[in-house]
Amino acid sequence: MSASYHFTHAITRKPSASITSGLRAVDIGTPDLAKMQAHHADYIAALRSTGAEVVELDALEAFPDSVFVEDTALCLPEGAVVMRPGAPSRLGEAALMAPHLRALYAQVRQISGADSFIEGGDILTTETEILVGRSARTNAAGIVELTALVSDWGHTVREVFTPPGVLHFKTDCSLLDGETILATERLAASGCFDGYKVIHTAIGEEACANTIRFNDLVIMPAGFPKTRDTLVAAGYAVREVGNSECAKLDGGMSCLSLRFSPRG
Ligand code: GLY
Repeated sequence: MSASYHFTHAITRKPSASITSGLRAVDIGTPDLAKMQAHHADYIAALRSTGAEVVELDALEAFPDSVFVEDTALCLPEGAVVMRPGAPSRLGEAALMAPHLRALYAQVRQISGADSFIEGGDILTTETEILVGRSARTNAAGIVELTALVSDWGHTVREVFTPPGVLHFKTDCSLLDGETILATERLAASGCFDGYKVIHTAIGEEACANTIRFNDLVIMPAGFPKTRDTLVAAGYAVREVGNSECAKLDGGMSCLSLRFSPRG
């Protein structure tokens, strides 16, 4: 079993009515809550169809972006690390995730430095290393602290860079299997995936780079047919899920869950 994409569990959080106030780089319209809820249900059904247990947390009205649970923690087989989000309006989300992680993990650690900021959307865990992209939300101090927290669990962290103007490192890439990454050309051109096999998103379909490999499925946003066909031709079992409403808030498939197999 590959620890980087075989998972027994996922945690999600229901979208709140306050999602209409969620953070966004550019305002391209107000998210429709009912439509987002329908997409969210399809997403959870896709996760569950692989046999995983999915914990659905209640909505948090005080935190408009809290549906994007991935930013609150890094989940590894040995334990979880609670993040310190760089967006001030999201800082409180991490502490509210911690008890749910403690219910499933024996070891839960925490990024705690006052100057350390790091969000899960900037972290790509592969079979051999943890890549963390510096971004507007994740700084060098956060990466140094994470590196120290996971080293005795046997994990190596490599600092990389999120392209300017891109929210998170994983906005532009996803793990497809033990050696293959789906990435935009702009990110892959930085050389950060040297040594991996890279499949590029189709030109004009860069917005689908944020997919997830979850057990046997690659779950990707609907509406990107060229990239979908490339992935199907490469042998992946693709499941498309609507993402039009989360996309208005720069959110994608990885943002909507924490995925893990706790060892004890
Ligand atoms: N809207 C998601 C984020 O900015 O964190």
